[in-house]
Amino acid sequence: MADEGLDALEAAADCLARARYAIALTGAGLSVESGIPPFRGPGGLWTKHGEPPMNGFERFLADPAKAWADRLNPQGPMRELWVALSSAEPNPGHRALVRLEELGVLQSVITQNVDDLHRRAGASRLLEIHGNATLIRCLGCIARFPRDAIDFAVLPPRCPQCDGLLKSDTVSFGEPIPPDVLERCFEEAARADCMIVAGTSATVYPAAQFPFSVAERGGELIEVNPYPSDLTSLCRFALRGPAGEVLPRLAELVAARLG
Ligand code: APR
Repeated sequence: MADEGLDALEAAADCLARARYAIALTGAGLSVESGIPPFRGPGGLWTKHGEPPMNGFERFLADPAKAWADRLNPQGPMRELWVALSSAEPNPGHRALVRLEELGVLQSVITQNVDDLHRRAGASRLLEIHGNATLIRCLGCIARFPRDAIDFAVLPPRCPQCDGLLKSDTVSFGEPIPPDVLERCFEEAARADCMIVAGTSATVYPAAQFPFSVAERGGELIEVNPYPSDLTSLCRFALRGPAGEVLPRLAELVAARLG
């Protein structure tokens, strides 16, 4: 059973301060206080509009020109998401994780978010397992380009390096996670003896597998989430509250312990 409450916050700070290799796994909940809705739970995009079709990648490959036209002119729930992403700023939760990295406590952050907010907050050891919405990726050579480096006059756009088919870097449902990122995520999870799990329902794989691999090897899980999740029973500490409030307090307590 996970410890909750103030004592849990202090004990979680002890756990982080003495960790040999601590990492974090984050999800949509971390960006809720930046104005981006989550997908599931209260106020979730899929809760409101229903889960999207699980064959997004297949549909992209079937007609990449149409998929690009839709992407460049999003409608429905995707429009809501892209509008929120375009005006979002990092919040104190993102910055607290950067502080833990600067303290030498957090070795890496694996995020499921495509919103670029960790990077903009200053995270330097970041693994974006579902990609980054500001980048375009080649399905051939896996090169990634900033959006404004690509000409969309002719759809689908082609890779300036290998003429391969270009796709948004965000990973579609049914698309394999790019191997360069996936391998590093597994390596980080295999090394960790402590993991902060912030703002995720831990329902989407392979990301949801990482906390299990840490716990199976006796590592400690620290959940930061206003609500219980599928992971809570596995967690040593369950810090209930918005990540933008809990993570800065946790970072403060860790900093105090490191003196
Ligand atoms: N602070 C911390 N956690 C929060 C906050 C908050 N302010 N607000 C909500 N949460 C929690 C919710 O309780 C929920 O457990 O964040 C979680 C969000 O869960 P999801 O919406 O399922 O998001 P996530 O786990 O990131 O989804 C995984 O699913 O749809 C795909 O590709 C998408 O990357 C996404 C993946």
